Amino acid sequence: RLSGLQITAVVGCGAVAIAWFYYRRRRQHNDLTVFMPDKQGNEVIVRRARAKDVAVVTLDIADHSGTGSGTGNDDFFIQEFARAIEDPDYLVLFATDSNGKGLGTIQVVWSSDSESYWQSLRVAQVARKRGIGNVLFKVAAQLCMAKQGAGCVARWGVVSNNEIMTGWSARLGLHGPEMFRRYGAQPSSEPPLIPKGYTLRGAELADVPAIMRAVATWPVSQSSFGTQNFVHSGWGTFNEHALRDGIAGKCSRGISTPLPRVLLDASGSVVAFCMMAKLRFGESMFCMYRYADGEPSALKTLLHSLPNFAHAEGCDGTGGYVPTIPWLLDILDESPVFNRMTKTEQHEFHWSPRDYV
Ligand SMILES: CC(C)(COP(=O)(O)OP(=O)(O)OC[C@H]1O[C@@H](n2cnc3c(N)ncnc32)[C@H](O)[C@@H]1OP(=O)(O)O)[C@@H](O)C(=O)NCCC(=O)NCCS
Repeated sequence: RLSGLQITAVVGCGAVAIAWFYYRRRRQHNDLTVFMPDKQGNEVIVRRARAKDVAVVTLDIADHSGTGSGTGNDDFFIQEFARAIEDPDYLVLFATDSNGKGLGTIQVVWSSDSESYWQSLRVAQVARKRGIGNVLFKVAAQLCMAKQGAGCVARWGVVSNNEIMTGWSARLGLHGPEMFRRYGAQPSSEPPLIPKGYTLRGAELADVPAIMRAVATWPVSQSSFGTQNFVHSGWGTFNEHALRDGIAGKCSRGISTPLPRVLLDASGSVVAFCMMAKLRFGESMFCMYRYADGEPSALKTLLHSLPNFAHAEGCDGTGGYVPTIPWLLDILDESPVFNRMTKTEQHEFHWSPRDYV
């Protein structure tokens, strides 16, 4: 017969086991844990990344060959991984084997309620070509569907000379690529040249209806590229909500966003417009234009006013990504101040996650 003490011990152990089981289940749920086999049938566990994964990412997963970052050092990626884990606009996924060894990672950035931007995909050198990238892709698609519904759209941007990524994107049947080029200019104390009677200023709330009406007719938005560009988080399409956030100077990474720039002609009509952001890279501050649109000559004037704006904002440079529309490339290629920042292009692909679950 069991003594009172033994019964208490058995009941206690049972309670601890049940509590441990539920704790593990809840933690797996919060960690969004998914199990999926790699190409060889080995189990891969994909879960939300944690702060303690930073060390593994730094040592084993960051890409030092330069394929992903394009520079041969992955310092920015490592710094961003640590930051993104804490950012509610980011879902950072981390793949391990069944022993907990780190294999790879991807970041899903929630660009809007129905759009996500997938970036910073890295697989440890020793784990490559085993299908870990494919596992991360499928899990990310499942989680996008779960959060944003069947109508959601996902995108990634691939540097044009990354043949693994461009080839794989094509085989996956992703839509695109839509090609973008990066241009930049030095800050300048020269005041901008604007036609007589025109006004150049920060956008105000009263401008919102006129800007939204104009955007619907302007040539970049009407092109196959649409209004996509970098947005507050990730890459996505421009909308009125983003415009209102820009006018409110919504902070990004602790830096207040400069007001969107508008150019008005002598009659007071909005003839060109661009969204803006300020980004810090180490010691430097960069003034970035994002979605920019307008009639070609007005857009040329607006873009050429940005070096002076960057100077006024105390930035070390200005620039951004533009769609490869011939007349827009001509404006920048013929510019005395703008230069192409890279020989490569940014290839933007998009797809419906529901096609990949
Ligand atoms: C790109 C990368 C993430 C692929 O990871 P991975 O786990 O090896 O990928 P998978 O084994 O799942 O393969 C994915 C696809 O790429 C192809 N692929 C993988 N390695 C390849 C290589 N060295 N050469 C050509 N194709 C390759 C695979 O055939 C597969 O295509 P398929 O499904 O049509 O057959 C990995 O090589 C990496 O981390 N590279 C450095 C960082 C980088 O470039 N990241 C992307 C930044 S946008």
